[in-house]
Amino acid sequence: MAKLFAIKPLAACCEEASAEGAHTLKRSLGPINLVTLGIGAIIGAGIFVLTGTAAAQFSGPAIVLSFVVAGIGCIFAGLCYAEFAAMIPIAGSAYTYGYTTLGELVAWIIGWALCLEYAFGAATVAVGWSGYVSSLLGFFGVHLPFNATPSLAITLFGHPFSAKVDIFALCAIIVVTTVLVIGVRESANFNSAAVMIKVSVVLIFIGLATVFAFGHWHHMMANWHPFIPKNLGHFGEYGWSGIMRGASVVFFAYIGFDAVSTAAQEARNPQKDLPFGILGSLVICTVLYIIVSGLLTGLKPYTSLNTPAPVADGAAAIGATWGVCLIDLGAIAGLASVMLVMILGQTRVLYTMSHDGLLPHWVGSIHPRFRTPWLVTIAVGVLVAFLAAFFNIAFLGQLVSLGTLLAFAIVCLGVIVMRSKQPDAHRPFRTPWVPFVPIAGMVVALALMVSTDTPAKIGFFSWLIIGLIIYFSYSTRHSKVQGMQKRLPQER
Ligand code: ALA
Repeated sequence: MAKLFAIKPLAACCEEASAEGAHTLKRSLGPINLVTLGIGAIIGAGIFVLTGTAAAQFSGPAIVLSFVVAGIGCIFAGLCYAEFAAMIPIAGSAYTYGYTTLGELVAWIIGWALCLEYAFGAATVAVGWSGYVSSLLGFFGVHLPFNATPSLAITLFGHPFSAKVDIFALCAIIVVTTVLVIGVRESANFNSAAVMIKVSVVLIFIGLATVFAFGHWHHMMANWHPFIPKNLGHFGEYGWSGIMRGASVVFFAYIGFDAVSTAAQEARNPQKDLPFGILGSLVICTVLYIIVSGLLTGLKPYTSLNTPAPVADGAAAIGATWGVCLIDLGAIAGLASVMLVMILGQTRVLYTMSHDGLLPHWVGSIHPRFRTPWLVTIAVGVLVAFLAAFFNIAFLGQLVSLGTLLAFAIVCLGVIVMRSKQPDAHRPFRTPWVPFVPIAGMVVALALMVSTDTPAKIGFFSWLIIGLIIYFSYSTRHSKVQGMQKRLPQER
């Protein structure tokens, strides 16, 4: 039983973090690369699509408050991530933090939950991406002779099962996977270009909407009134409970800042730059989200925002019809970089788990020339393509949130445990107001987990059970930390 809670020694992690040589990942990322990596993973389908849906159905103009609530929860978790990332700069991120504080079984559960965040997250975004490509092509009058999402009807275990083989999403994943295999520097450049486009588009929207707001103040005020629409008698249908339900939906928009910590072994100066990358990207995106959601609900009545492209509709409402094309372009670039950073994060977590012996050796093998974990990158690319082709976007999105929230809650708990177990360990960044910040981070994460739908919760628990079966049948027998602990008493 004790072996299930075997702790990976902090010294072993620090040694791994400082390893150099051809078998290690290449250190080429500076502080700006890390902030752009964070923004690359954060700004995506959440702001471009979910803002409108959540405002129309749950929060009304108070969607701004939903963004504030979700943003504050993420900042609590981000501060805890920053302490760990600077202290243990290992690509395993939350998985490694769990291993050094709460033991192997909990670490495995986090690593497995992170697959939901990263691999399932990339798949969710891939599904949304092809919709924007079709829309942009349609804007220029290009209508392809084939359907981007042809349906495939098959029968599984006697039940009809329909799936769409999304050609655009498939192509996007192939391109992103190829860039990731070629090199982290190349991936960072690809990401920087995509981030520049999407941030410019968001800023142009803010600029246009602000100019409009100054000239049409009464129009904006009318749409903002009532700011918190009256609750319709059910939990989550406007009112304060609607703000919370909206927050659990727009939480998806913040997912990704933690992916910065998976680039720990590729950062030139991880102890200083990782907290900067995590918190910098999170704060920039929180500010942008609050401004965009506030302006959007002023431009159009919130009841009319439940559309596939609400931000584009907001631009069209100002009279900037070219805005629709611009927003499509921003979303295409935005979602491409989210896919890139999510797949990058997934491969780095699996790479670390393989180094610990919990996954087969090939998962951690590095390409001799590109210095990237190429085999696992290709394997993850294939898995993401499969998920994107066969699953429903809303279901995938909720699984992503559940996996991420579990990881956030455990990282927050880990900060408290680590402070009490190793109070004197070197901490280049310290989370302020411990234990208030980690406890608040846990409370927000658990509250948001509870407010997800039942089918997603069932999917989440099924995923955890599959993970436990793999752990007990493979990982526990190959664990290097357990092996180390068995050897130690004999050596003494
Ligand atoms: N935060 C990412 C998005 O909104 C996952 O697409």
